[in-house]
Amino acid sequence: MEDMKDIQWFPGHMAKTRRQIAKSLPLVDAVAELLDARIPRASHNPELQQLTRRKPRLVILNKADMADPDLTARWMQYYKKEGCAVITCDSKGGKGVKGFAPALRELLKSQLAKYAEKGMTGRPIRVMILGIPNVGKSSLINRLCGKNRAKAEDRAGVTRTQQWLRTADGVELLDTPGILAPKLDDQEAAVRLALTGAIRDDILDTEALAARLLTLLHNEYPAALAERWKIAADAEGDGFPLLEQAAKNRGMLLPGGVPNTERAAIMLLDEFRGTKLGRITLEKP
Ligand code: G4P
Repeated sequence: MEDMKDIQWFPGHMAKTRRQIAKSLPLVDAVAELLDARIPRASHNPELQQLTRRKPRLVILNKADMADPDLTARWMQYYKKEGCAVITCDSKGGKGVKGFAPALRELLKSQLAKYAEKGMTGRPIRVMILGIPNVGKSSLINRLCGKNRAKAEDRAGVTRTQQWLRTADGVELLDTPGILAPKLDDQEAAVRLALTGAIRDDILDTEALAARLLTLLHNEYPAALAERWKIAADAEGDGFPLLEQAAKNRGMLLPGGVPNTERAAIMLLDEFRGTKLGRITLEKP
């Protein structure tokens, strides 16, 4: 799936993905949508709801290791109220992955009971994994099925019948996850997608991005900024002025004492993405 990351999304692509998903849907009992726990709203493709509305949905708040635990708990409540099953996951480290199968069994309880009545007890649960690029689909599949299985047969141009990957606890995954387009038409969502690295940040100016992040952190996570960038919680201003201050505070100066805002911006984004500023969530339910 590496090569999918550089694809520019345009309507034709989404149409093709939509067709593929629609074709596979009748084969599965449920869909499992991966969201980035730091940006559950921006990492959700609204078309998906429309497309899969008749299927039970498991929401996986992935990269939970990087997200604010309190807000993750609130997001979990939110999705439960929406009628979804929901788990949190760190597909890189593996934490939470074992909750996948039990959550599906719970979600499909009545359906599984019907199968059992008909004597179809050995029938596996079949699921399609969906999510935007970089949200962690291959990491999760590798965790659930083992590295080699998930990578097998992933060659472009090779026609093959639908294949299933079996997890250790008897769930079957469609071997090709549905790759959804990120929501680029919503400018606010695009900023958050770029901040988390879900989309390449060259579509947006680095300093502008960092300024947006600073405003957000200053409002929601002032302690993190105070600690690492010496920006007081009651500091005046936001955005670019804060970035200038951040550069000054770290001694990042150009000749003539001009704050090197570009260097500070790159550093700040790196620190955020590397969780050096702590576990931060950019959206509230
Ligand atoms: P995709 O198939 O949906 O496109 O996503 P993929 O699994 O390739 O994951 C994209 C990046 O996100 C990878 O990092 C992966 O390690 C990381 N990742 C996935 N799930 C999690 C998670 O739950 N927590 C954390 N912290 N990271 C996660 P990468 O930079 O591309 O590679 P690498 O740094 O792992 O080598």
